[in-house]
Amino acid sequence: MKNTVATLLSQKQSGEKITMLTAYDYTTAKIEDECGVNAILVGDSLGMVMLGYDNTLPVTMDDMLHHTKAVSRGAENAFVIADMPFMSYQTSIYDAVVNAGRLIKEGGAQAVKLEGGAEVCEQIKAIVDSSIPVVGHLGLTPQSVNVFGGFKVQGKNYERAAKIIDDALLIQEAGACAVVLECIPAQLAEIITKELTIPTIGIGAGNACDGQVLVYQDMLGMTTGHTPKFAKKFADVGTLMHEGFNAYIQETKSGSFPAVEHTYSIDDDIIERIKEERGKHK
Ligand code: KIV
Repeated sequence: MKNTVATLLSQKQSGEKITMLTAYDYTTAKIEDECGVNAILVGDSLGMVMLGYDNTLPVTMDDMLHHTKAVSRGAENAFVIADMPFMSYQTSIYDAVVNAGRLIKEGGAQAVKLEGGAEVCEQIKAIVDSSIPVVGHLGLTPQSVNVFGGFKVQGKNYERAAKIIDDALLIQEAGACAVVLECIPAQLAEIITKELTIPTIGIGAGNACDGQVLVYQDMLGMTTGHTPKFAKKFADVGTLMHEGFNAYIQETKSGSFPAVEHTYSIDDDIIERIKEERGKHK
């Protein structure tokens, strides 16, 4: 059965943790869906993990639509949320509604996610008024990397912690159906989770949140370089990929691949006849 906004809300109410993972393509979405993940986020993190940018700022609506379409085709039961890329909603309420609509109508997502608190409440309200569920995103909001001066834990002093709580209440009031809390102290996420009636989905925000989300390349050990401390490696797929690619290169170079079982054949007499005829033409 397709997960919906109502599924996530009822999970918060019953205390059943919500599972969310990112996906950016059909095959990965299908595997996650088969495993029973509740929600799939087509994150603008695709700019970094799929497209090789340093941050999420260059990601375009075309990028998001391309990947959201693929994920939607693979997600039979999971609730699909598409990120609104940088400058697709900050510019105006009109842009926000039009671009959210494209992610639903063309991309096939069931909800959109956008970053920010008080400053995006009008956009959230307008999108929700257009019958599109909105997931908020507070704490370390990667589209503000230049304001934060890097990817850093947020909400560590009183004023900033209080602002995140206020923002969470405001976006709930504006109509958000859930909120992602990224990289904030666990005790702060716990207070927010208790105060809100909508589900909180944590990433680097402790285990009191109503659910968790991770970037799948991080949790499968596929990312190289620095990974944040919250990105637990649940499997070492990166090593398996290296082993597989190395074995392919070695066997192809040595000629042991393809073997007979990977090869198609034809009757000997047909080949003899072809050879004979080709001999005549020489
Ligand atoms: O873009 C993304 O993948 C995200 C998650 C890190 C929550 O926003």
